[in-house]
Formats: sequence, C-alpha cells, structure tokens
Amino acid sequence: MVAERMETRRERMGKRNEERGMKMERLRRAKESGQGVVVDLEFADLMTDGEIHSLVQQIMYCYAVNGRSASPAHLWLTGCTGEMENQLQRIPGFDKWIIEKESKSYIEALEDQKENLVYLTADAETVLDELDLKKIYIIGGLVDRNRWKGITMKKANDQGIQSARLPIGNYLKMSSSQVLTVNQVVEILLKFLETKNWKDAFFQVIPQRKRGGDQSEAEADAETEVAEDAADVVTADGGELDMGDTDEATDEEVNDGCVNKKPRTDETEDTA
Ligand SMILES: C[S@@+](CC[C@H](N)C(=O)[O-])C[C@H]1O[C@@H](n2cnc3c(N)ncnc32)[C@H](O)[C@@H]1O
Repeated sequence: MVAERMETRRERMGKRNEERGMKMERLRRAKESGQGVVVDLEFADLMTDGEIHSLVQQIMYCYAVNGRSASPAHLWLTGCTGEMENQLQRIPGFDKWIIEKESKSYIEALEDQKENLVYLTADAETVLDELDLKKIYIIGGLVDRNRWKGITMKKANDQGIQSARLPIGNYLKMSSSQVLTVNQVVEILLKFLETKNWKDAFFQVIPQRKRGGDQSEAEADAETEVAEDAADVVTADGGELDMGDTDEATDEEVNDGCVNKKPRTDETEDTA
C-alpha cells in the first residue's frame, strides 16, 4: 500500500517535472520570437497599496496563464520601480520568472521600436483587427475602477505612439463598460494568438455577467458552443477566488506559474 502510494507520487512528480521543463522551453522560445506584450507599471503613484496588491495578483495570474499557453507571449514588465517593485519582489520565485523586467519605461527600454509600439486602451479610435508580430502591445498596469479615465489614451497621444482598442463591440454587447482588467486583456491576447478568433477569446475570458444580452441568434449559438468548451477550462481553473487566495500557492507553484486561480479583481473595473 505504502509502496503503491510512493510509486504514484513518483509518477506524479515525474509528470510535473516534464511539464515544467516543457513550459520553461515554451517561455524561452517566446522570449526569442513570441508576440511582444508589455505591462506598463508606471502608474503606481496613482494607486492605493491595495490596488497595487491587486495588480500584483493580476500579474501573477498573467504569468501563469502565459506559461500554460500553447503560444506564449514575450512578456515585459516595464517601469518596475518603488512600491510596485517591492511588492513584485515579494512574490516567491519572482527572480526566476522567464519574463523581461525593466526599471526603465517602455519608451526608453524599447526606444528603437517606437514606431511599433501600440498602446491598448478602451478609449482608442482604432480597433484592433489582428495581432502583428512586429508590433509590441502595451497594457496599462492600472487597477483604478476607471477613476483615471482616458489616462492611457492621453499617454499614448503625448508620446506619439499608436493606440488601439480590442474589437469587443464587433462580437458582443457588454452589460457595463468595455474597460477590462490587465489579466483579462493578457488572457484575451493569448487566446487570440492561439485561435486567431476574437469571438472565442472574448467569450472564454469575459465573465458572463459582464456580457449583456441582446445578441443575435448566431452570436447566442456561438456563445453556447464556446461556453461548453470553456466549461472545462473554468472547472480546471477552480473558479474565482478572493484577492489573496494566491497566497495559498506554494513557492514552487508560483515559480512554475501554476497559480491558476483568477484574481477576483476581474470585477473591479465595472464602474467606468
Ligand atoms: C483597468 S484598465 C485601466 C483603465 C484606465 N483608466 C485607462 O485609462 O487605461 C487596464 C488596462 O487594460 C487595457 N484595456 C482594458 N480594456 C481595454 C479595451 N477594451 N481595449 C484595449 N485595451 C484595454 C488598457 O491597456 C488599460 O490601461
């Protein structure tokens, strides 16, 4: 009995090590040739400590989802200084993450790529149709309940870089604003990289309560199909948990990007 249990454990550990190895390899490859995605961390001064904490949880989730993705992105954290950096450094295993960490702003760190920088913002006029491997997409690292409405649009305009919004309105009607959280945007981009299908990406990532009714029959059918597929994912994710739940993860899990519980913060941008 004991021997059997030890054997099962050994097998499980072997499988985990193998998966970890494959994930590391995918992330290393993404660093060479994956889609560039930046989380802009220059807004820490505009957030409370609690909001910074929420953002850190969202970043942990982004890293975990990226590690599991079949087509991971080349992820950057830029403008990583002060309290933001302190809180990130407290994540067990953060030092070993396969991600670009920059204290410089993206505009400095990616100076030679300025014409390829695209700030993603719900306030942009341009709608994103496709993801272009040559471009680098920037996401505002903000948890603000849209208190700072338009701030990323203004930043992109001031810096003279391109901006674009996700094509949400082409596929669904939201019951509230189209302002999503950082982890939702990252997850949508990753799903799109995998499937090249915005509709699937939106239906799989945006919680049903945020998606309004009033869809066409075709949309409703598509939703049913995707929802059935997504049911497995949701079950595997273990649902949404309170902020702080990721504290339950072991060092090893965080290091591996196995933190797979969605931050509850995906509800917090509704007030826009
Ligand atoms: C919680 S929102 C921050 C809202 C903030 N008030 C602003 O002006 O950007 C976090 C980030 O996710 C990205 N984002 C959220 N919804 C988006 C959408 N519909 N289209 C494109 N980017 C979006 C933006 O980069 C945004 O800065």
